[in-house]
Amino acid sequence: MKNLKQKIITLKKQKNAVILAHYYQEPEIQEIADYVGDSLGLSQEATKVEADIILFAGVHFMAETAKILNPTKKVILPDLEAGCSLAASCPPHLFKEFIESHPNHTVITYVNCSAEIKSLSDLVCTSSNALKIVESIPKNIPIIFAPDKNLGKYIIQKTGRKMLLWDGSCVVHEAFSLDKLIELHKKNPDAKIIAHPESETHILETASYVGSTSGMINYVKSSPSDKFIVATEAGILYKMQQEVPNKVLIPAPSQEDNTCACSECGFMKMNTLQKVYDCLLNEVPEITIPEDVRMKALIPIQRMLKLS
Ligand code: 13P
Ligand code: SF4
Repeated sequence: MKNLKQKIITLKKQKNAVILAHYYQEPEIQEIADYVGDSLGLSQEATKVEADIILFAGVHFMAETAKILNPTKKVILPDLEAGCSLAASCPPHLFKEFIESHPNHTVITYVNCSAEIKSLSDLVCTSSNALKIVESIPKNIPIIFAPDKNLGKYIIQKTGRKMLLWDGSCVVHEAFSLDKLIELHKKNPDAKIIAHPESETHILETASYVGSTSGMINYVKSSPSDKFIVATEAGILYKMQQEVPNKVLIPAPSQEDNTCACSECGFMKMNTLQKVYDCLLNEVPEITIPEDVRMKALIPIQRMLKLS
């Protein structure tokens, strides 16, 4: 593995490439990345790239966002099948019908959606700026929010805004078990529960902190507590533990899996070190987006970046 990592680092230099990675990637991929972050951080980083090639170690919608922001650069993704259940829940033709049947609404979409869905949106948001983005819309204007109904419910609860929600969800965050979480908390009463807003309302209600992956890392760093139960994809524990080596981090338990106490995103985990190497060597698979879609999708992303 050491050899493969070294080969990737050498290839990166030869090809003038950068690797942007999400916190849910395997540790060995995070280790060879030039930047590791949440969706907002990754989008912001993508606007600063000077390299010729961006290898995106994450899922398809993240690589698409990087391509939308960098049309002249080659954006490659180790596995094109690395999708997202939220993005898949929102097919463009159905979403277009939904928007058309609710005219005069401002359309805000969570970044976990396809470029085509973004091209139909007025604004894009991520988990770290969703409240701010929704609050930027005057109160008298009705809002459509898609595709994550759990994040949508959380925003409604926090802002008091009425929003029409699309019926999408994240398979990983919906798998957390409330009963098992309560049981675990009883055994660790000194632990603070922290959760990603893609989780269901009953999980979020138990949490001392709700926020994006970067927000959760910052919270455990600044909190005086020494123990946390972490309700998001288990990949985050690698970076989080590095940041707080003396604190105890316990992954929140999911429903189906009795052998493993944690939740993993099968899409994120499709990327492997070998696939990263092959992808960089052959410069495929490449992300391509029709130019008319890209231009339209760029507008709500740029609005979001300006507001962030
Ligand atoms: P973050 O933007 O908080 O990293 O979330 C991305 C994601 O896909 C969560 O499931
Ligand atoms: Fe999509 Fe959920 Fe995986 Fe995040 S964890 S990429 S929302 S399926």
